Formats: sequence, structure tokens, C-alpha cells
Amino acid sequence: MEGLPLKGALRDSELKVIRHAGILMEGEMIKAVDDFEILQREAAKLSATIIALKADMVVTPGWIDVHTHIAFAGTRAHDFGLRNAGSSYLEIAESGGGIWSTVKDTRQATEEELVSLILERADCLIRQGITTIEVKSGYGLNVGEELKILRAIQKAGVICKATLVSTCLAAHTLPKDYTGTHVEYLELMANELFPILKAEGLTKRIDAFIEKSAFSKEQIASYFTRAKEMGFELTVHADQFSTSGSEVAVAFRARSADHLECSGEEEIRELAASDVVPVALPGASLGIGCAFTPARRLLDAGASLAIASDWNPGSAPMGQLMTQASILATFEKLSNAEVFAGLTFRAGAALGLEDRGILASGYRADFAIYETAHLEEITYLQGQMNPVQVWIGGERVSG
Ligand code: NIG
Ligand code: FE
Repeated sequence: MEGLPLKGALRDSELKVIRHAGILMEGEMIKAVDDFEILQREAAKLSATIIALKADMVVTPGWIDVHTHIAFAGTRAHDFGLRNAGSSYLEIAESGGGIWSTVKDTRQATEEELVSLILERADCLIRQGITTIEVKSGYGLNVGEELKILRAIQKAGVICKATLVSTCLAAHTLPKDYTGTHVEYLELMANELFPILKAEGLTKRIDAFIEKSAFSKEQIASYFTRAKEMGFELTVHADQFSTSGSEVAVAFRARSADHLECSGEEEIRELAASDVVPVALPGASLGIGCAFTPARRLLDAGASLAIASDWNPGSAPMGQLMTQASILATFEKLSNAEVFAGLTFRAGAALGLEDRGILASGYRADFAIYETAHLEEITYLQGQMNPVQVWIGGERVSG
């Protein structure tokens, strides 16, 4: 991934593949990536431990999943059945299913139970070679319950081998037990929740679902202004069923605009002209049965592109990032370079993490090792080939 641009289309010939390579690590970081014999001599001088891999292997940077909702309890299998029988995501939400039913289940769970659920799901992602995981709150929807979830993410992050990056999604939808208006709810969260997030260091990131069933661009404006004033970074659930979210993301210089399934020419043009990273969530398209994010058109217009799992109980229950990214690639005609960039350094940019996603000196020693001679098999096998080893911060954590 070294030397590739943050934005725009990429050809596979641009991938820098080093054959017969070695990685020299020091602590959590990569010291050098080079020809194995050269590094072997270097390692002998340093009396470093050498691990030689016997079979044909491909080593990639650890994947970065920039959008998950894995801090939830319960299941929404019933919603899935209803959707497949013809009800829409919004109809189900309006009739008491949807996000609100997961809120009820998540409120029942203790902080410790949530820690276990997050760790279990994070382990599943680590086995796929994912070494950095963003985790949103958003199934608490009052001050105390949002704090419970964010504290659970923080605790899980101390135990988890992968880096967990938390995001506050108190603006997921208006909770059904809140009697005030949308604006009053957002004001309450900004006044009472934001200061505690700061004081406890629970998150640096604020997200909002901008949609007819959630919050409008007008309602979110002062919430985002407050968040920015307090030094939070922003990310947006944008243009999933109707547009206007990406406009907000660009106006507020959010790190990323995620979903974008219904973005049109104008939205694509605005995103491409900005530094906002568009994030495709093919798992949500597969879970709902709707169009994919126009990834090809975004890249061709000059935008960046990250790809994330959106793992959540409602719209994206699968939690298999490489399967989803590979399927997106076949429908949107993405090169392997574009897929891998979207799962590595471009995803890192969506989180403001510049120390990962590239296998080169000075980056974190986070990587996945696949038993294959062909890099292309990773997407070709559509997620059916998991890495045989996963390393995070210079430590072998899986395989
Ligand atoms: O990213 N779009 C809003 N939020 C989630 C779905 C959450 C849910 O249905 O529980 C998403 O798709
Ligand atoms: Fe989401």
C-alpha cells in the first residue's frame, strides 16, 4: 500500500508487491520490509528472533473495519423475516421493530455482559485478519445507557488484542420513551453526555444517523456544531435511504460519510471535492436487499473509498467483511487494489489513524498472513479463506 494516493481509482499494477520478503519488527512497529535474505543478515546482527514461513504465503496489512455496531444485545432475526416477506426497513422501524427493539434488549444487558459480547464479536473479526475495529454506541439512547455502552467498549478495548476505536451514536434515532422533540433530545445529549465523554475519555468521535426515520440536517446542525466546538471528530450515517447526510458530512468536514447507497451525481461530486472519506457498507445492502454504494462512480470522480462491515443486528447481521467487500467488488467492478486500499490505509484515514494500514517501516506491525501464492485469491474466494496467522502490534494473536 506504500505510496498509493488517498483518493481516486487504483489499478492492480500500482500495488507494491514484495516477493520473497521479510518483515523486521521492533516492539509494536515495523522496522523494515525487504528481501528476506537482507533482513536475515540484519536480524542476525541484532540477534533478533527469526520466524521463517515454510509454505507460499501472502502477507497483507491488518484490515481496518471503520464502521461497526457490535455493542448490542439480542437478535433481529424476526425483522429479517419480515423484510424478506415484504415489509420495508422503515416500516418495521415505525411499527416497533428496528433499532428500538435492539435498544430494549441492550438496556437489559449489564455493562459486563456487553463487554463479553463485544469481545466475542471482535474475536470473530480478528480471525478474519481485522486488527482495528471501530465500535459505535447507539443502542442506549439516554445518557446513562449510552455511557454504559461506551464504558463497555472502553473496557473491552483494554482486553482486546485489536485496537477498538469508539464512537458515540446517541443520535441514532429518537428513543420511543423520550417525550420531547428531536432537537430537545439532541440538546440533552450535547449538554449532559458530551461533557462526560470528555471527562472520562470515552470517545473522540460523534456520529449521527441523518434520515427521515432519525434526524434531519436542520436538527443535527447545532448538535454537530457543539460537538466540533468541544473538539470531537464527526462521522455521519449518510444517504442510506434519502440524501442530505453527505451534504452535512461535507459541510461539517466529517472524517467519513458512511452508507451512501442512494447518493446521486451531486453528492458524489461534493464528496469527491472534499476530504471526507466515503465508506461503503455492502453488508447493509446485502442485509436489506438494496443497492450497493456507488463505489465505482465515487472512485472515478476522484473520491476516496473505505469498505466496512456495519456489523449490527438489524441491517447487517453477517459480520464477514472480506465476503462483503469481495461481493461489492464484483458488482461495482473494483480492482483488488481499490478493495485492499479501502480496507487498509484509506480506512485508517477515515479514523484519523495514519500509523497503520501500510506494510512499511514506521507503521504498526499489524498484519494478516494467508496461505496462498496468489494475492488475488483473497477476494476471489470471497471471504472463504481466512488468514492462517494474525499479528497485532508485533504480537501473534491468532493462528
Ligand atoms: O448502519 N442506519 C442506521 N444504523 C444501522 C442500523 C442499525 C440497526 O438497524 O440496528 C446501519 O445500518
Ligand atoms: Fe451503521
